[in-house]
Amino acid sequence: MTITVTPSGQACGAKVSGVDLSMELGDSLVADIRAAWIEHGVLAFPNQCISDDDLERFTAYFGNFGDDPFVQPIPGREHIIAIQRNADETSSIFAEAWHTDWSFQSNPPAGTCLYGITIPESGGDTLFANQYMALEEMPSTLRARIEGRHAIHSAAGAYAPEGLYGKADAGSGRSMRVKVSKVARDTLLHPLIKVHPETGRESLFGCIGYIIGIEGMEQDAASELLLELHQWQTSQQFQYRHKWSSNMLVMWDNRSVLHRATGGYEGHDRLLHRTTIGSQA
Ligand code: SIN
Repeated sequence: MTITVTPSGQACGAKVSGVDLSMELGDSLVADIRAAWIEHGVLAFPNQCISDDDLERFTAYFGNFGDDPFVQPIPGREHIIAIQRNADETSSIFAEAWHTDWSFQSNPPAGTCLYGITIPESGGDTLFANQYMALEEMPSTLRARIEGRHAIHSAAGAYAPEGLYGKADAGSGRSMRVKVSKVARDTLLHPLIKVHPETGRESLFGCIGYIIGIEGMEQDAASELLLELHQWQTSQQFQYRHKWSSNMLVMWDNRSVLHRATGGYEGHDRLLHRTTIGSQA
């Protein structure tokens, strides 16, 4: 079996055909998919009728399962979470701010797999932003301000009791199984410019949201710099807009792209199953 990889024509992302993900994949096919994933940052596999077992098996080809600290898995599964919003739900869209998954962990995930089960006819696109490109094309004056700096990451703004999904969200009718915890207030440092462990290329890592400050920098100055950086790293020229269909599997590289969910499907159900590819560090 050989795969066909068709680039999106945007800043990252490619479509993959010529593989049936409900079957076991051989080493050379997995190596081809891995190479395409690393090259394009985001891969979409349309027309894949796969079960939760298949989703877990596919994920495990690329590393150990990562830890999903603040979302409970679906019943009967340890490694699958549901990204879900029901037609009558009025809660805010989950993960609508730009981020890289669980960047507040000491060994953040290498990647994420997301499988579309119920997909609305319109809306609910996922946006990605290529962080190699954002760094390579960054004005030297901005780069000089972040070079050698370490960002302070935390999940507090989302998952602490005072966060977006905390007390203020109670009663919103959110169908996602979010786990709010004081542990989300923990902080951890990562360089703002990180070397990708598989390509050796430098990339921006993370953005304001899970990044709450910059080590050794006064808070107002850090917030101002992080906002300016966010504007740059999520600029249109670095983006890929992913349009879903049901039975489509998407995998992305958390070390080289940012992503965010979008709304626009009010009154319609949306359900996807997600797994996390752990760090290979
Ligand atoms: C996510 O960040 O995993 C959610 C993406 C989406 O719902 O489009």
